[in-house]
Amino acid sequence: MRKICVIPGDGIGPEVMQACLDVLQAVTSEFRFVETQLGIESYKKCGKYLSEETTQIIQNTDACLFGAITTPPDPNYRSPLLALRQGMHLYANLRPVYQFLPDKKKVDIVIVRENTEDLYAGIEANHQGYAVAAKIVSREACERIIEFAIDYAKIHNRKKITCVHKANVLRKTDGLFASVFQEKMRNEEHLIGEELYVDTCALKLVTAPENFDMIVTLNLYGDILSDLAAGLIGGLGFAPSANLGESYAIFEPVHGSAPDIAGKGIANPTAMILSGAMMLDYFGFYEAADKIRNGIASLYAKGIKTKDIGGEIGTEKFTELLIKEIDMEK
Ligand code: NAI
Ligand code: MG
Repeated sequence: MRKICVIPGDGIGPEVMQACLDVLQAVTSEFRFVETQLGIESYKKCGKYLSEETTQIIQNTDACLFGAITTPPDPNYRSPLLALRQGMHLYANLRPVYQFLPDKKKVDIVIVRENTEDLYAGIEANHQGYAVAAKIVSREACERIIEFAIDYAKIHNRKKITCVHKANVLRKTDGLFASVFQEKMRNEEHLIGEELYVDTCALKLVTAPENFDMIVTLNLYGDILSDLAAGLIGGLGFAPSANLGESYAIFEPVHGSAPDIAGKGIANPTAMILSGAMMLDYFGFYEAADKIRNGIASLYAKGIKTKDIGGEIGTEKFTELLIKEIDMEK
């Protein structure tokens, strides 16, 4: 039995989380869920965005499922999710981008994003007339994330890794990332290594996504490119992710709390459910994970359309149909 911390969060977070828990419970009885809050909900309860109680629950669980949280207007707010990713050394943000919709170009890309440094290190300062943010790129973090990407490629039979940076301008920081990539790839005869500047990468993702296999990149570029890549496959409702460290992992959709559609029952839960499937993979429950992915694939192949892609199917209906589909495959 694995203990899972569940943080539904705000906006559509609780809606898609419920869908994910229902689907997980339909394929496995290996999980015990413990619910807690982060962000605004936590602040309302105890005056802290990341409470001791939540930290403790995280420490006493094997992994975490996370919905999404809204960023409050508070000028002193620092994202508790970023704090968790950094504090728990969840250094690899794995973001698979896979095309389920039958009417679109085939896309099957795995984005590996460095998750602890770069401009997200949270070092900013105001000065007279200007403000500064520090971009931190350490050799250790570059080595760790590039080795992670190479290992992932070998295990999952991926052929090509594209290293994305902007080393023509950021010669020291991105230059270090690019040079570590070149060093590490020198010994990898069976993998194709490629480098692209981030702006060119954005263009090529839109014009020829079929040429990409895996991308390894720094924190900010990974954040932006993964939303772009989600746009290729039907939107943020389709993009799951995993934050992976040595001994803990947080699984969450790429999207945020989507206040524009919250409470309407129309959020597409696919991204959250696929994040749950990534958690099943993490614990080695591959069969259960595949049941979910196959169920999702066959629903979309049948032409089922959620609201975000121009259909009428809401969150609960989608979940109900998916569970039926999974049961039929059993
Ligand atoms: P967002 O990802 O919440 O929404 C962007 C657009 O995509 C919206 O039009 C939304 O309706 C749509 N969308 C997102 N998920 C969807 C789904 N599952 N089904 C259908 N449509 C979906 O990004 P936005 O609007 O920039 O941010 C909203 C709030 O979320 C902000 O407070 C932001 O800071 C926060 N945020 C939180 C994240 C997290 O908790 N990990 C990540 C990104 C944003
Ligand atoms: Mg993002």
